[in-house]
Amino acid sequence: MLKAKIAVFVSGGGTNLQALIDAQKSGAIQHGEIALVVSSNPEAYALERARAAGIDAVAFSRKQLGADGFERAIEAELSERNVQLIILAGFLSILSEDFTARHAGHIINIHPSLIPSFCGKGFYGLRVHEAALERGVKVTGATVHYVNEIPDGGEIILQKAVDILPDDTPESLQRRVMEQAEWILLPRAAEMLCREIVERS
Ligand code: GRF
Repeated sequence: MLKAKIAVFVSGGGTNLQALIDAQKSGAIQHGEIALVVSSNPEAYALERARAAGIDAVAFSRKQLGADGFERAIEAELSERNVQLIILAGFLSILSEDFTARHAGHIINIHPSLIPSFCGKGFYGLRVHEAALERGVKVTGATVHYVNEIPDGGEIILQKAVDILPDDTPESLQRRVMEQAEWILLPRAAEMLCREIVERS
């Protein structure tokens, strides 16, 4: 079967990348194949996960290459492998408007809240969950959305709600949102979009 080529962009632990790798192995992702992992951080554990799964992995430093050089290096890797879907999974580097426009409709992100709550500039990692607990909301969750030039501003693709419990800490909440929402939603969205890409081609 024809499969859409996926690139996963990471910066850290890569548990969402792992969920995608596992989904590919189990057959939950049938219409796509992870062809490349791009890290903005050479130390990211996500790179180990990619290598363990036999997936090509590269790391580029925006600091060393500059913003333009960084994106040019990434583009070269993408076109070499004919990547059709880019998945940002804990990618902490900001991509330029040019880059997101070039890949419009083919670049998605997972955010650990129910957008439009607790999203946008400055809302990443534990900060998202700290803000939700501070505000006292009783339900949070995760969102998969298309990426455009506005941080967390692109069209929403999938969302899943997660209850907040009275004793939650930012850490316990982060973990539950991953387990109950992120690791389920991201593979589901990947399969959905890859299927569309394959059916269109
Ligand atoms: C996740 O919470 C994701 O939603 C956010 O960054 C975190 C990445 O975690 N964008 P991991 O690297 O996938 O473990």
